[in-house]
Amino acid sequence: MPLAGIDSNFTLPPRFYTSTEIFNDELERIFYSRWIYVACDADVPKPGDYVTLKIGTRSFFLQRSQSGEVRGFYNVCRHRGHELLQGERGNRKGLSCPYHNWTYDLDGKLLRARGMAPDFPTEDFGLNPIEVAVIGGLIYVCLTTPAPNDIEAVRTSLTPYLAPYELRKTKIAYQKDIIEACNWKLVIENNRECLHCDSNHPELLVPLYSSGFGKGLDKEHLQPSEQRFQETLQEKETEWESLGLPYELLEFPEGLWFRTVRLPLANQCISHTLKPEHACKKLLGNFKQPEGSGLSLWTHPNSWNHFLSDHIVTFAVFPLSVDRTLVRTKWLVAADAVEGVDYDLVNLTKVWTETNAQDQSLAEGTYRGICSGGYIPGPLADEEYLVKQFLSWYKDQLTETPLH
Ligand code: FES
Ligand SMILES: [Fe+2]
Repeated sequence: MPLAGIDSNFTLPPRFYTSTEIFNDELERIFYSRWIYVACDADVPKPGDYVTLKIGTRSFFLQRSQSGEVRGFYNVCRHRGHELLQGERGNRKGLSCPYHNWTYDLDGKLLRARGMAPDFPTEDFGLNPIEVAVIGGLIYVCLTTPAPNDIEAVRTSLTPYLAPYELRKTKIAYQKDIIEACNWKLVIENNRECLHCDSNHPELLVPLYSSGFGKGLDKEHLQPSEQRFQETLQEKETEWESLGLPYELLEFPEGLWFRTVRLPLANQCISHTLKPEHACKKLLGNFKQPEGSGLSLWTHPNSWNHFLSDHIVTFAVFPLSVDRTLVRTKWLVAADAVEGVDYDLVNLTKVWTETNAQDQSLAEGTYRGICSGGYIPGPLADEEYLVKQFLSWYKDQLTETPLH
């Protein structure tokens, strides 16, 4: 991989956004080899519930077993290779292949091999498993075995931050898939800075300060909004202490692949809404009253998440081809919340529906520019330090990850 001499203070050379060869290398070295965020507990609440998923060309499914764990298997029968499950989601008590009806249990064990001799060793023909890790209700998979063992350090760090929200007791109020006409890295680069927020995200900046996302680094020369953010932050830290809510910034500790921080909301907002009122009357976890902050979590290579006291918004990015990217957004509310009674779907989803559309336009516009023939890698500002961090991590993966 020709990475030598590429400066992390600049965006990447054009071929990294346009070359199918590099795209295929990214699938192998990153998306098939690293822990990838793909779904959450609320996708498979009950035993037998499943979701089918695809990363690159690899198809697999997640299913909750009878004992309550989430298991993952390639979506392929061990007989002659027919796919086992069709459709995006559903519930099955057992898995029967549509071709010749080989039947598996929810742990992937082959129960019945139609047509085979009575002494056929069914125990040797279980489903092909993938690695699954559930952290605070967020489901990560790795398509390489053995998976990187850094997942346990991530679990230890993140669990106290995510636990108060009890994601396991939520449901998906709404899911929106967007296919963006750009390379996947532009979606992530755009997500890792808020330099573009002031001029592009009027809705998002109602509940959010852009500080905390890369702005306001220069403490000596704070702008008025950054000053307000710092003051609010100090007040809220005392409150978070008393509520026992972790808030300290964890920024890629010890080379791990996540950043998390608790941030106060702006304009007296108590949720990601356009007015200072909750998006859902039923609060999550142990929250007794709406809490005016959000816990944000970003993971390399493909997710960002915002946890509010009344709902969670979670985003997963899936590269489809060198120039097509799926961005999947889910809004989660308390499992017993009732649409039209406890929450209004438009109100719940408005801020991020608008923000996603704006970000899509920015990422696609950047891709068109990069493909113009005149693109030259551009310099990144101090405020874009998380873009630099992402690009530096990305280059490490391409050069360091051994291929299996
Ligand atoms: S391919 Fe699945 S039973 Fe034959
Ligand atoms: Fe944005």
